[in-house]
Amino acid sequence: MCGIVGYVGNKSAQPILMHSLKRLEYRGYDSCGIALAGSDLEVYKDVGRIDALATKLNSNGCSIGIGHTRWATHGKPSRINAHPHTDCSGQFAVVHNGVISNYLELQTQLILEGHHFSSETDSEVLAHLIEKYYTGDLVSAVKTALTYIKGSYAIIVLGKDTPYIVTARYENPVIIGVGYHENIVASDVPAVLDYTNKVIILKDGDIATVSRESVKVCNNGREQTRNCNVISWDINEAEKGGYEHFMLKEIHEQPKAIAETLRGCLSKVEPQVNPGIKIPDNIEDVLLLGCGSSYHATMIGKYVLELIVGIPTRVELASEFNHANPVLRKTWTIGVTQSGETADTLMALKKARQLGSHTLAITNVVGSSVTRLVDQCFYTRSGPEISVAATKTFITQLMAFYLLALSWPGVDYKYKYGLIQDLGRLSSKVQRLLNHQAEIAKQGANLARFENALYVGRGINYPVALEGALKLKEISYIHAEGYAAGELKHGPFALLTPQTPVIAIAGLDSTREMFLANIREIKARESPLLAIADERDTEIDKYVDCVIRVPSTEPLLSPVINSVALQLLAYFAAEARGCPIDLPRNLAKSVTVP
Ligand code: AGP
Repeated sequence: MCGIVGYVGNKSAQPILMHSLKRLEYRGYDSCGIALAGSDLEVYKDVGRIDALATKLNSNGCSIGIGHTRWATHGKPSRINAHPHTDCSGQFAVVHNGVISNYLELQTQLILEGHHFSSETDSEVLAHLIEKYYTGDLVSAVKTALTYIKGSYAIIVLGKDTPYIVTARYENPVIIGVGYHENIVASDVPAVLDYTNKVIILKDGDIATVSRESVKVCNNGREQTRNCNVISWDINEAEKGGYEHFMLKEIHEQPKAIAETLRGCLSKVEPQVNPGIKIPDNIEDVLLLGCGSSYHATMIGKYVLELIVGIPTRVELASEFNHANPVLRKTWTIGVTQSGETADTLMALKKARQLGSHTLAITNVVGSSVTRLVDQCFYTRSGPEISVAATKTFITQLMAFYLLALSWPGVDYKYKYGLIQDLGRLSSKVQRLLNHQAEIAKQGANLARFENALYVGRGINYPVALEGALKLKEISYIHAEGYAAGELKHGPFALLTPQTPVIAIAGLDSTREMFLANIREIKARESPLLAIADERDTEIDKYVDCVIRVPSTEPLLSPVINSVALQLLAYFAAEARGCPIDLPRNLAKSVTVP
């Protein structure tokens, strides 16, 4: 998730572009750049944030330009990988937000045709494709170029001598702020609100020509009318997309984060999965490492790898692994860290490497420290996560484990086929759950009355119980513990009172009978019981006080749906308690000290 802007008007474009980009830094901030049209295209770009780039600009009064603030997906944050990208002749500059899944094929063909590429990005192919099809009309060159693109995009194109900019979108947002003798194109509303509150929202497939005086929209070769909406949000609200908190916004971004992380990995024809990870030869077992939510993701990863692949898998808390004396013979060590900066996980991976282990990092940040100390990386594509509580990054870490396991040679064809179908449907099932959050909001407000709570699950839903408890305690300050349901009778039963609600994650899998027995034992001790249950589960009501029903899915994928429901439950409990949800006390988004 990057931020793109474009300005065409009667004022100097440079300060407006820089100001609007600053407003979009929550979308990505590892590198940035602008391009201004003058006698030649002037391109300024570098690693780091907008304020740093501002110190390197020569003022240029021209009134048309484009800009970008980056969240790297392809190619580490660097000056050469920063946007805008230009073509070989320096006639066109392009900024792009999205992922081009067929960029390697296009690049290979263009290089054969004599084009010279300078960056490691997927986005640069756009500039060269436009150059290839340019015969004097920039709009039709962009149109033709886009017919070759597979993936998602929001782009703005600037030509050296054209008094307009061209923008287009497919599966990524583009809005146009309509002003007085000026127009501002951007990824999102915060970039334009200081200049206008009149906004046109482009639809998928739209290509718009934006000049100082007009906005012309085409789709499928036909001119389109797009409404001009008046935005009533203030800047703060706009950055959160109208949500109260970044956490709720990020919870609602999960259907997209799942789709983006799966993009290009699932073949539509064959039940083939290719996450671009090379499984080392002759490994005998796998070691998974992480902290906090990432550790909980590794616990689910263990179930997935052992069930699908059948490879022995152990999980270790990274902070504890640093004190252990592990034997890592033919072990593949996989470290999970969304930020890529967590000191305990970095130390643990370094140790595993020193012990001769192959290493893979599952991370959300291209160019982060972890990417420089491991053999391979898999990037979850959640975009930047602002709220301290991990939500979308946790869910896309689970996607990484499903992809890794299903890409392993020798997995049963029929079983794999079914799971791949279910994986492809997960994004819309999560969306269905989010559309019905009202019931969860009610249960959250009810939970807010308590000072203690227990979460229980069995099998693959045991780590889901741990993650649910972590979410509640870190944002609502309610003391919550997650337990394997079978463990309660060995001590925690002593905590059960009418003041200690229990949240039970009820799977429709092989744990069912034993889980219902545990539920009956909890009920007998008068703790309020709330179940998270599959919508097909008609029996659970008999055993609990309230049920949150979630869309039905393959049990192995149920941790995704159940975890989203628990994120919402914690969010609404914290909201009812008036907690500072995005910045909870005593916590940091990335823990860079051991
Ligand atoms: C989770 O909500 C917390 N923010 C925290 O437990 C986090 O998961 C942990 O610090 C690990 O962070 P990482 O994934 O960036 O390594």
